[in-house]
Amino acid sequence: MTIQQLLNERVAAALAAAGAPDAPAVLQPASKPEFGDYQANGVMGAAKKLKMNPRELAQKVIDALDLDGIADKVEIAGPGFINIHLAPAFLGDKLGKALADARLGVAAPDVQKVMVEYSSPNLAKEMHVGHLRSTIIGDAIARVLEFVGHDVTRANHVGDWGTQFGMLVAYLVESRKAGDAEMALSDLEEFYRKAKVRFDEDAAFADTARDYVVRLQGGDAEVRKLWEQFVEVSLEHCEAVYRKLGVSLTRDSVRGESAYNDDLPVVVADLAAAELLVEDQGAQVVFMPEFKNPEGEPMAVIIQKKDGGYLYATTDLSAVRYRHRVLGLNRVIYVVDARQSLHFQQIFTLAKKAGFAPAEMQLEHVAFGTMMGEDGKPFKTRSGGTVKLIELLDEAEERAFALVSEKNPELAEATRRDVARAVGIGAVKYADLSKNRTSDYVFNWDTMLAFEGNTAPYLQYAYTRVQSVFRKAGEVDAGAAILIAEPAEKQLAVALAQFEDVLYNVADTCQPHHLCGYLYNVATLFSRFYEACPILKAEGEVRASRLQLAALTARTLKTGLDLLGIAVVDAM
Ligand code: ARG
Repeated sequence: MTIQQLLNERVAAALAAAGAPDAPAVLQPASKPEFGDYQANGVMGAAKKLKMNPRELAQKVIDALDLDGIADKVEIAGPGFINIHLAPAFLGDKLGKALADARLGVAAPDVQKVMVEYSSPNLAKEMHVGHLRSTIIGDAIARVLEFVGHDVTRANHVGDWGTQFGMLVAYLVESRKAGDAEMALSDLEEFYRKAKVRFDEDAAFADTARDYVVRLQGGDAEVRKLWEQFVEVSLEHCEAVYRKLGVSLTRDSVRGESAYNDDLPVVVADLAAAELLVEDQGAQVVFMPEFKNPEGEPMAVIIQKKDGGYLYATTDLSAVRYRHRVLGLNRVIYVVDARQSLHFQQIFTLAKKAGFAPAEMQLEHVAFGTMMGEDGKPFKTRSGGTVKLIELLDEAEERAFALVSEKNPELAEATRRDVARAVGIGAVKYADLSKNRTSDYVFNWDTMLAFEGNTAPYLQYAYTRVQSVFRKAGEVDAGAAILIAEPAEKQLAVALAQFEDVLYNVADTCQPHHLCGYLYNVATLFSRFYEACPILKAEGEVRASRLQLAALTARTLKTGLDLLGIAVVDAM
């Protein structure tokens, strides 16, 4: 059980014993060290309901509160807050267990089958900065859920279907004839642009492209093969980005829109059978009372166009059904731009109405805002073009290399390259993950690469500092008891003991910035501890205990950064 769960349970029991049976404990980490380590704020609300004096109720709660072996002091503050000071022995014991455990003492959850769907670029073009957020945020969420102990499936719902592919296949055939297909495909952005020019300017080419679309959708083997070749090249481009980013998506994660193609007529038939479908101007649509436009008129979800074509929504309905019936998932997390919010709310509602997903299946749109340039507009190249992801990441490494070389010129060049990779890529990821994902954020090289503040380089550097203690320490006793006496030790210990709660919170809310804020706090509390409490100069069991705190700090930072998809280095 996590500390938060344990205290919640005990305080709720005491509230019940004091005459407020269903009152929530409203427990949270104390806002200041003077207030102890945790505070329970539920008494005020409960007292109001019972028309009681809150301080009187607080006293009753404290009298009934059993925190033996957990807290060494519990007191009333202000209008009826309950401040809880954790007992050093309780903390020492918990941290000792965490150190001895590969999962850092994180309790096992009620295991769910969870899918995290992320990245999901359209394969017609090259990945650009617009895909960065989904890729980074989704990967962190998948890693955290997995570490906590859930059964996680990663899904890359790539856009590999639609009329554009006819045009691309036509251009592929043409460039093969000219003998320069390899060259042309090395830059997908260019490839798309040139294919589009051909399509717009040459009617015969456009006809061929349309013919390919029809043949592709009709299952023609020859066109299908050409399409597969194009998709293969495009996926290799994506994988180059994933490798550079250190993202845990693999080929097995890919299940593109095309995979649902054969099921789309079935989706339409099932919606019709469920009497959800109506004809509107020749198209097959669904109206749901939950969705109205600003004028209060019902909004249509288009399922099939007049010409028989299917839509983005149709595919997503088929995917939900597959994820329920075939994969048996309990929870699906869609990490997609906030601009698609309405789409997902409609899909989730409709899927449940149509019985494609059971009511208890958790379908969540984990939305994020836009990455902005310094000018406050969506991030673009100087000339206003889209920024290719691979180029952005190369630049991150180059900038980090310059910084690392300046800071530590004695390091061998190869080492500086390795450090630059960890720092550069880490900085880009951390800058994104440390912001509340729902807001837009401004992309700024200088702030993300700073060695001060809530940044990846700061945390990576903090990690190397802890490691350097061990390089000087000599033999350490890995089983030594953790003894907490000094305030700086206590504060660090409390923070370390909260790791589990933070991970549970991120697994629940899909908000990785809480983990970033947490790691930053741990790093800051470690440096205070390091200044206030000599480690190597201490003696006997105090020295051994402080080394244990340092060891757990290092492992917590390393594990936490790893869950964010960020590497650590031993020196920088
Ligand atoms: N390919 C889409 C895009 O680039 C994102 C797909 C999101 N996932 C989904 N199930 N619709 O906008």
